[in-house]
Amino acid sequence: MAAQPKILITGGLGFIFSHVTEYFVNKGWNVVVVDNLSEGSHPEILDHSFTHYNAHTAHSSVIDIVLKENPEYLIHAAAITDVDYSIRESLRTIQKNTLGTAHLFEAARQLPNLKKFIYVSTDEVYGECEHRMREDEILQPKNPYSCSKAAGSLMHASYHNTFPHLQGKLAETRFCNVFGPRQDKAKILARIKYSLKTNTSIPVHNDGKGCREYMYVKNIPPAIDLILEKGTGVYNVTLNDSYTVKDLIAKSTEVTGKKILTHEAHRTGMDMRYQMDSARIRDLGWKPLYTFEEGAKEYLLGDDEVPVTKSAWEWNASSVIKNRIKKFLGKEDR
Ligand SMILES: NC(=O)c1ccc[n+]([C@@H]2O[C@H](COP(=O)([O-])OP(=O)(O)OC[C@H]3O[C@@H](n4cnc5c(N)ncnc54)[C@H](O)[C@@H]3O)[C@@H](O)[C@H]2O)c1
Repeated sequence: MAAQPKILITGGLGFIFSHVTEYFVNKGWNVVVVDNLSEGSHPEILDHSFTHYNAHTAHSSVIDIVLKENPEYLIHAAAITDVDYSIRESLRTIQKNTLGTAHLFEAARQLPNLKKFIYVSTDEVYGECEHRMREDEILQPKNPYSCSKAAGSLMHASYHNTFPHLQGKLAETRFCNVFGPRQDKAKILARIKYSLKTNTSIPVHNDGKGCREYMYVKNIPPAIDLILEKGTGVYNVTLNDSYTVKDLIAKSTEVTGKKILTHEAHRTGMDMRYQMDSARIRDLGWKPLYTFEEGAKEYLLGDDEVPVTKSAWEWNASSVIKNRIKKFLGKEDR
């Protein structure tokens, strides 16, 4: 029997990519995950069906791990993803996310058997979207999180341009807002599910006028598989199901038949609308498995628990303090 392909996924224990990890394990692939078990991670899926390295992508030793494993397929999804945290700890977010991405591009450049490297970016790199953004439009990130993701998108463009042997082997995804099982309650649909279970109130930022496109997480693994097989360049991944937070709450009430309690909140640096043109991934042959309604129904009415992990702020508070001590002693972590 021919050996199964090897795929290495950073952030493969997180909300979205834990589903991707399981998808490739079920497909019989040899899966390696690099994940430092920080915010958003789901160590409960560790079951020896794949290899796990508890390693930090912002440490250059991650390059050695990737080269030692020598995968044909590489996905870089690990990131600090909490926008509120990125506003409080902007330097740390930018340092960790951009350095991690730079290490993954460096590793990709040296892999002898590389078939495809996907950098996982986001719709937030476009900033305020007056119209449905195409992949080739200018990036205008508006907060430290999206800035750190946009830096990776620029690395993608520059590695593609500089290293001819990588041409045709690099791809990038820009997902709209994703929801589904394992999402932390900090995100809106998870917050709605949590508040339905606990009868608690939801913070609605900036009058609930922020408009986003939403997509069920189970649509992601087949999209990734398709891009690994025949994609190259950047792909917006969305079904164009667009809702303001107010609409989303109304829709969730419609799906569940339950009233949802809310209270007002404010977020600085918030873009009011993200919307993307998805023609490119559809032309590649992507057919989403779930509509928004089907996904929302399955998710909001499902029995699974909504994880309430520590916020990135809490996760990192202790390491920030440790680093301050190390800095004082001249042994600061990079
Ligand atoms: N959630 C969304 O709606 C959405 C939308 C667009 C793009 N994205 C992108 O998709 C990816 C996954 O998002 P998510 O919401 O599933 O994230 P998540 O926060 O749920 O999971 C992130 C995972 O990465 C790991 N991680 C974080 N920093 C790390 C580091 N430096 N080294 C090693 N591991 C690290 C964490 O332990 C966690 O398992 C991210 O790159 C994000 O920017 C997410």
